[in-house]
Amino acid sequence: MNKDQMVNGNQESGTFKTILVTGGAGFIGSNFVLHMVSKYPQYKIINLDSLTYAGNLDNLKSIEGNQSHVFVKGDICDAQFVNSLFDEYQPDAVVNFAAESHVDRSILDPQVFLRTNILGTQTLLDAAKNHWGSKPDAKYVQVSTDEVYGSLGETGYFEETTPLAPNSPYSASKASADMFVRAYHETFGLNTSITRCSNNYGPYHFPEKLIPLIISNALEDKEIPVYGDGMNIRDWLYVEDHCRAIDLVLHKGGAGEVYNVGGHNEKGNIDIVKLVLKELGKSEELIKYVKDRAGHDRRYAIDASKIKRELGWEPEVMFDEGILKTIKWYLDNKEWLENVKCGNYKDYYSKMYSEK
Ligand code: NAD
Ligand code: DAU
Repeated sequence: MNKDQMVNGNQESGTFKTILVTGGAGFIGSNFVLHMVSKYPQYKIINLDSLTYAGNLDNLKSIEGNQSHVFVKGDICDAQFVNSLFDEYQPDAVVNFAAESHVDRSILDPQVFLRTNILGTQTLLDAAKNHWGSKPDAKYVQVSTDEVYGSLGETGYFEETTPLAPNSPYSASKASADMFVRAYHETFGLNTSITRCSNNYGPYHFPEKLIPLIISNALEDKEIPVYGDGMNIRDWLYVEDHCRAIDLVLHKGGAGEVYNVGGHNEKGNIDIVKLVLKELGKSEELIKYVKDRAGHDRRYAIDASKIKRELGWEPEVMFDEGILKTIKWYLDNKEWLENVKCGNYKDYYSKMYSEK
C-alpha cells in the first residue's frame, strides 16, 4: 500500500492480531482498552502499564477474566523488558498512551516526564523497528496532545501544520516524543501515525485534572481552586470520541501522518466550574481563585477537519450531554473515586497480576 492510498482513508481497514497498548490502566488508555475489547473480540490486547499513581486496574474490572485482554505490569523505558514482550507476543500494532500526563506535576518535577515521555517512546519505537522487519503492515500510533502547539490568542485554531511551540515541561516532552516518531518514520520507514487531541473528559478521569477535581471537591464541599482569572480556554472532547478517533487512525491512518482530534467545544475554565457546581446543586462560594499556573497556556482550539475529511471521524457526544454523563458516572461510582483518593486502588488487583 503506498502513502497516497493510505492517506485518503479509502483503503480497506487494516486488521491486527495482537495490539500492544501502553498506559492502558490510565484514563484514556483504559477507555481505549474497553472500547477495543468490546469492538474487536478477535484481537488480543496486551496492556503494558507500570501502574504509576495514575494507573488504576479498577478501570478494567469489567473485562476481568476476558481472554482477549492480557495485563502486564512493566516500564516502557526498560528496553530489555519491552523487547522481551515483543518476542513473546509478536504484536503487529502499538498504541502508546503511557505517559506522565499532568502539567502541574511537570512544573514541580520535569525529569520523570523526559524519561517516560521521550525515552519511553523511543524505546517502544526501537523495539517496533527491530521486530517489524517482516511485517510491513504493522502500525505504531503515538497518542500525543494539542499542547505541543503551545497557546492560541483569542482567535485561530491548531492545524497539523501549526509549528510546535510547547510551553510546559510536559508539552515539551510530548513534542520531543513526536519528533522521535517522525524520525523513526523518515529514517527507518516505520509505519507511524500521531494523534493530537484536545482535553478529554469522562469516566475514570483521575481527580487531579480539572473536571474530576471539581466533581470530587464539590461532593465533599471543599474549595475548587481556579488558576489565575479562570478565563483560560480548553477544547473539551468526550473520551469515547477520542478512543474512536484513535481506533480509526490505527486502522486507516496514513504512514507518517499527524491527525488533530477535537470537538469544537471551547469553554472557559470558570464556566465549566460553575456548570458542574450548578448540576451538583452546590454553591459558587466553593470557588477559590488561586495563583496562576506558571506558563499557563491561554487557549487551545483544534481544527479537526483532516481526520473528518480523510478518515470520516465525527464526535458523537456533545458537551451538554457528555458533562451530564460524566457527572452521573462519578455519582454512580463513588467507590472508585474513594479508592483513588485513599490509595486503595493501588493494591486492589495486585495479587491477581504477576510483576514481570
Ligand atoms: P494518565 O496519566 O491517566 O495515564 C497514563 C498511564 O501511563 C497510567 O496508567 C500510568 O501508570 C502509565 N505509565 C506512566 N509511566 C509509564 C511507564 N514508564 N511505563 C508504562 N506505563 C506508564 O494519562 P491520560 O490522561 O490517560 O493520557 C494518556 C495519553 O494521552 C498521554 O500520552 C497524554 O499525553 C495523552 N493525551 C491526554 C489528554 C487528556 O486530556 N488527558 C489529551 C490529549 C492527549
Ligand atoms: O489539551 C490536552 C491536555 O489536557 C493533555 O495533554 C494533558 O495530559 C491533560 O492533563 C490536559 O492538560 P490541561 O493542563 O489542559 O488539563 P488540567 O485538567 O490540568 O487543567 C485544565 C485547565 O484548568 C487549565 O487551564 C488549568 C485549569 N485548572 C486546573 C486544575 C487542576 C484550574 O484552574 N484549577 C485546577 O485545580
